[in-house]
Amino acid sequence: MIRGRELWLAMLAAIIIGSVYVGVVFYTREIPEAGDLFGHALGIIGFVLMLMTETLYSLRKRSRLAKWGRMSSWLEFHIFTGLVGPFMVLLHSSWKFNGLAGITTLFTIVIVISGFIGRYIFTRIPRSLDGYEVEGSLSGEALRSARRLLALWHTIHIPIGMALFVSAFAHIIAAVYYVTLGR
Ligand code: HEM
Ligand code: HEM
Repeated sequence: MIRGRELWLAMLAAIIIGSVYVGVVFYTREIPEAGDLFGHALGIIGFVLMLMTETLYSLRKRSRLAKWGRMSSWLEFHIFTGLVGPFMVLLHSSWKFNGLAGITTLFTIVIVISGFIGRYIFTRIPRSLDGYEVEGSLSGEALRSARRLLALWHTIHIPIGMALFVSAFAHIIAAVYYVTLGR
């Protein structure tokens, strides 16, 4: 069951990370640059969390080999990393959104909003503890339409994720080549 614990944990993590960020801003008296040590670290860790979001839940869901852990726990973890990763990447941006990096940020924001919509539809469908669908309180047409809506949502959410990673990889290669290695 997805009950909302992951949202509270993500908020807690965001408050802790945000406090460190504000501390750094007060200490250095400037906004951390995306290419500095702290800004870089935020970008890299945030991106790794986003990569985990993109891959781990799907692997657990689809692979015959990866059967450990409840599906619902993996989805909670998906949502946690899917919020904390983008938050870190946003702090990494140094609040400038030019060119490809700006487009990557836009995709990131869109996928998080889309995630919330999917989470809402997903939780309308009754499931067992492990996350598999069961016939429950919702009946007949209502259950069918929720399923149809979730299938439609998948056809939008998944391509956005792919576009996001294509532009993220291009940004990372360009940034590392021109900025990090150029120093
Ligand atoms: C989805 C993940 C990421 C997003 C959305 C993102 C977004 C951004 C944004 C908005 C900027 C500011 C661009 C500007 O100055 O207008 C930036 C700069 C930068 N990013 Fe990222 N970033 C991501 C991941 C990464 C990663 C993983 C790395 C390093 C391996 C990285 C390295 C850099 C560097 C070096 C800069 C500074 C570029 C400069 O000073 O011109 N980024 N990024
Ligand atoms: C970096 C951000 C995110 C990425 C890259 C991402 C990517 C994905 C992908 C690829 C899937 C398809 C999984 C599959 O069926 O194999 C998925 C499903 C899903 N995501 Fe995300 N997501 C992100 C953030 C979020 C957030 C923030 C939420 C909730 C607030 C969320 C909620 C969901 C839900 C409910 C599903 C459907 C699960 C299912 O039908 O089994 N996602 N996501």
